[in-house]
Amino acid sequence: MQYRRLGRSGLKVSAVSLGAWTTYGGSVQDKALIKDIVAKAFEGGINFFDNADAYARGQGEAFLGEIFEDLDIPRHHLVLSTKVFWPMSDAITDRGLSRKHVLESIDLSLDRMRTDYVDIYFAHRCDPETPMEEIVEVFSDVVRSGRSHYWGTSEWSAAQIAEAHTYATAHGLVAPVTEQPQYSMLYRERVESQILPVTEPKGIGLVVWSPLAMGMLTGKYDDGMPDGTRFADNEGFRKSFLNDANVAKVKALKAVADDLGITRAQLALAWVLRQSGVSSVITGATKVEQLLDNLAAGDLELDAATIERIDGILAD
Ligand SMILES: NC(=O)c1ccc[n+]([C@@H]2O[C@H](COP(=O)([O-])OP(=O)(O)OC[C@H]3O[C@@H](n4cnc5c(N)ncnc54)[C@H](OP(=O)(O)O)[C@@H]3O)[C@@H](O)[C@H]2O)c1
Repeated sequence: MQYRRLGRSGLKVSAVSLGAWTTYGGSVQDKALIKDIVAKAFEGGINFFDNADAYARGQGEAFLGEIFEDLDIPRHHLVLSTKVFWPMSDAITDRGLSRKHVLESIDLSLDRMRTDYVDIYFAHRCDPETPMEEIVEVFSDVVRSGRSHYWGTSEWSAAQIAEAHTYATAHGLVAPVTEQPQYSMLYRERVESQILPVTEPKGIGLVVWSPLAMGMLTGKYDDGMPDGTRFADNEGFRKSFLNDANVAKVKALKAVADDLGITRAQLALAWVLRQSGVSSVITGATKVEQLLDNLAAGDLELDAATIERIDGILAD
């Protein structure tokens, strides 16, 4: 497994990481299975595990908190993250990035995760109803209080990232070191044209979500929709990626992967990791075999001819 610096910070994260969204505590309730996946992830070199308060309304954090306690992995070997923004109840105060909600939420997350600190605390979205100064100050305070070592943004616009970074730097506050955007072979434009041009020069590392386009890029939907998959179970997710054009591209990518003797999942992850501004690809896995497949991408490097071949397929 390759380890990369989280942007310009000193934190080293595994190039392949594992997240809990829609899965742990949600679509996957079997704690023995999750424990097996997480144990194999750690054995395979994954040190970074991503979570959010909103994942299964706290259950993502609670399930992994219990599992890490069971596995007894020394806390300092792990890079744990969580996030705040999305509503956690119907209360008007229980959402967004107000100072009140962020300070209350971090403590609730730490309780559920059974840890004294997280390594990265993310603003899960930007909050147009909280001033940027209040947001930057409260995340800086969370870091200075020791409840998180770093903070980051997720799905913020390039302008918002730049504003937060500039405000923090100008006022002696802690600046964000990472942004968490969606990025994959099938969803590349926004990151490449807007986000990387701002984050790379500022030393903000990307940790990318849905790098497999929620499973689409693995080839599992080549011949229809297998039962028990994310697209079979969720129409919204299915509509975002499953269409004839994408199926044709993913089928064409098989020849590229076959020539390299790797799987399409590994090809898709290595393709994202070709970007030096990317620190980690945050994968999801509902089965041990998926995790083992994805892990192998942590050591792969694609040459220029392969990248060119892939670009040709994606442009069709
Ligand atoms: N910041 C944000 O707003 C945000 C949003 C979304 C996600 N995230 C983070 O990113 C993480 C990953 O997102 P994601 O789960 O969408 O990532 P993904 O890796 O693109 O998709 C994961 C899903 O694809 C299928 N899959 C994975 N590997 C496979 C393989 N080798 N072969 C066949 N199928 C495979 C599994 O679904 P099935 O088995 O169910 O088909 C798995 O749950 C999340 O857990 C979360 O931490 C962040």
